[in-house]
Amino acid sequence: MPTLLLTLLLSLNVALASSAFSYQGFATANLTLDGLAVVMPNGLLALTNFTSQQKGHAFHPAPLRFLNTTASSTAVARSFSASFVFAIVSVVDGLSDQGLAFVVAPTSDLSSANGGQYLGLLNATNGTASDHILAVELDTIWNPELSDINSNHVGINVNSLISRQAKPAGYYADDDGMAFRDLMLNSRRPMQVWVDYDGQGRRLNVTLAPVQAPKPKNPLLSEAIDLSTIVADTMYAGFSSSSGVVSTHHYVLGWSFSFDGPAPPLDFSKLPSLPHVGPKPPSKILYIALPLAIMLLIAAVSAVAFILWRRRRFAEVREDWEEDFGPHRFAYKDLFHATDGFKNRNVLGVGGFGKVYKGVLPVSNLEIAVKRVSHDSRQGIREFIAEVVSIGRLRHRNLAQLLGYCRRNGELLLVYDYMANGSLDKYLHNKNGPALCWPQRYWIVKGIASSLLYLHEDWEQVVIHRDIKASNVLLDREMNGRLGDFGLARLYDHGTDAQTTHVVGTMGYLAPELMRTGKATPTTDVFAFGVFLLEVVCGRRPIGSDEHNNPVVLVDWVLEHHRNGSIIDTVDSRLEGKFNMEEVSIVLRLGLLCAHPLPNTRPSMRKVMQYLDGDQIAPHLAPTFMSYNEMALMQSEGFDSYITPCPPLAAGICSGSGESLVTVLFDGR
Ligand SMILES: *[C@@H]1O[C@H](CO)[C@@H](O)[C@H](O)[C@H]1NC(C)=O
Ligand SMILES: *[C@@H]1O[C@H](CO)[C@@H](O)[C@H](O)[C@H]1NC(C)=O
Ligand SMILES: *[C@@H]1O[C@H](CO)[C@@H](O)[C@H](O)[C@H]1NC(C)=O
Ligand SMILES: *[C@@H]1O[C@H](CO)[C@@H](O)[C@H](O)[C@H]1NC(C)=O
Ligand SMILES: *[C@@H]1O[C@H](CO)[C@@H](O)[C@H](O)[C@H]1NC(C)=O
Ligand SMILES: *[C@@H]1O[C@H](CO)[C@@H](O)[C@H](O)[C@H]1NC(C)=O
Repeated sequence: MPTLLLTLLLSLNVALASSAFSYQGFATANLTLDGLAVVMPNGLLALTNFTSQQKGHAFHPAPLRFLNTTASSTAVARSFSASFVFAIVSVVDGLSDQGLAFVVAPTSDLSSANGGQYLGLLNATNGTASDHILAVELDTIWNPELSDINSNHVGINVNSLISRQAKPAGYYADDDGMAFRDLMLNSRRPMQVWVDYDGQGRRLNVTLAPVQAPKPKNPLLSEAIDLSTIVADTMYAGFSSSSGVVSTHHYVLGWSFSFDGPAPPLDFSKLPSLPHVGPKPPSKILYIALPLAIMLLIAAVSAVAFILWRRRRFAEVREDWEEDFGPHRFAYKDLFHATDGFKNRNVLGVGGFGKVYKGVLPVSNLEIAVKRVSHDSRQGIREFIAEVVSIGRLRHRNLAQLLGYCRRNGELLLVYDYMANGSLDKYLHNKNGPALCWPQRYWIVKGIASSLLYLHEDWEQVVIHRDIKASNVLLDREMNGRLGDFGLARLYDHGTDAQTTHVVGTMGYLAPELMRTGKATPTTDVFAFGVFLLEVVCGRRPIGSDEHNNPVVLVDWVLEHHRNGSIIDTVDSRLEGKFNMEEVSIVLRLGLLCAHPLPNTRPSMRKVMQYLDGDQIAPHLAPTFMSYNEMALMQSEGFDSYITPCPPLAAGICSGSGESLVTVLFDGR
């Protein structure tokens, strides 16, 4: 017997004690649902959907004991506390025709109640005491027949749809001197409700507040009521709603309940989020997300545009065969940055092939000169690059070092060592600029001669420069002459059609046979070198003009003076007579000899070097000498056949000792 009693008491205690719960969303709650009520996948409890004139109920599955029968003969209603978060979301903002109610009822099956009216609680306006129904209504419709005060109120109902007490929805703000603040129940915003019953004080309080706000100290409704005669022993707690004609959702997001103490606080961070209904609340989308998305889009578009622009800006042409030349290949980006984006103020000069820019390589701080050569023809570029790279392997102190290249669409960039003192022609022909003294000129001439010798004979391949001239002779910091731009002419050679070969080089430096055949050889280089020698000594351009604006060919002019025995008069007046007569005479004679119209007559660069070094005595030219122009003219008119094979006669070039070194058969007319 005692054991049985103890068991009974224990089980009773368990039932009474274990009736506190807390739901943050209802995904795992196993609520007892009927009608339209569903628990959505995210845990949101929807009591209604847009089906009109229907009801929905949701109850905690287990019954709860609302009466304390242990103490005395008369049962007393227990203290309890409930809190929940709800939201009324209507497609038409601010308009809904039914509310919802927190319900304590003796059964969880209210399915027989009237559908579209009375909150789904009762069949009629007034029920009876046997209904044992306590409800807290959150009503959004004004029913005069139910004595509603307005269309947005909270009321306490017992066995009836007519509230014992009702107040407009709102709360007393603690932080604002208890000022009353209105709340719109159907504002689509979640709100929290507390329903507290004090069993000893026999008072029921109902409090409302916006979600996440602390519970206001003053309740909205406080009703003296003894529930002991109203509730039954075991009751079900839950929610009830019904749908009217305006499409409205009644949601419950979370719910906690406890006897004899405050309901456990809800964890708002775990509450399910509300779905958007009808026209979406513009707040987040329009004011935050949309501008953000537009900004992101703009940012993304500009990033892509920037990348494309950068890629395009720094685009290069690179082909498989260039892999071998890797070390000589420069990135366009580096050259771009080195020259400050090829700014005009970095232009060192403008040549026939394009502009030359000064630059400083970003990492190595090496000073460079970048030549931009526009090159339309794809033909021959491969051979040319191969040549450029092999030229890059040339090492001579009188060569402007070619460091590498870069290719872009229709453009070739050649990277050279930077030459501090620029090109020689500006010293020779700029009458206002600084003049070079004779030893400097002689030193430069010898340097260029030795570099040409290196190209023609001393390197593994014969390299023909094709464009020797003063403007292609650069001066480094120590005023050493350095030959630049080798082989560039060849790019254009390769690029041209064999049928329509046109001569590449510079007028005034072109050997006559080059004009006819278009074929560059070491001797055509020697011819140009000869003109260059005269240019250096005389300080005159290869083709100048006299006071009557008639063209004057430098070679002919010097030859003329030679014939008249006044060759020394051709020396640049800027030297003011300060020069070594012997050296000047050697250079002038060599100039004429090298610039001889007949290729076979011209000395090799090795010979030239020996003459300049004084290892061999430079040949003297016989004064009887026909104009080179005349001879060239005759050649081009087809006199070749007999000029070349014939032994010497009238015109001759004699060594200083009178010994005929080179002989040319030509009968001056
Ligand atoms: C509303 O809920 C009921 C019952 O769950 C269902 O039959 C009906 O299709 C739903 N209507 C809408 C519009 O979702
Ligand atoms: C859910 O409740 C029903 C009825 O109250 C019950 O039969 C069922 O076992 C419960 N399920 C779970 C998982 O609690
Ligand atoms: C029931 O009432 C008695 C006397 O009023 C009280 O001592 C007891 O704690 C109450 N039990 C519960 C579970 O409230
Ligand atoms: C409501 O009325 C129906 C008949 O229309 C009846 O079956 C049902 O029991 C009534 N429900 C209540 C709660 O009175
Ligand atoms: C419902 O009950 C109230 C009193 O609680 C009474 O004034 C009213 O007339 C009743 N209505 C109906 C329709 O019985
Ligand atoms: C109800 O509210 C009153 C103040 O209006 C307060 O004194 C009382 O303690 C409250 N009761 C409960 C159960 O919250």
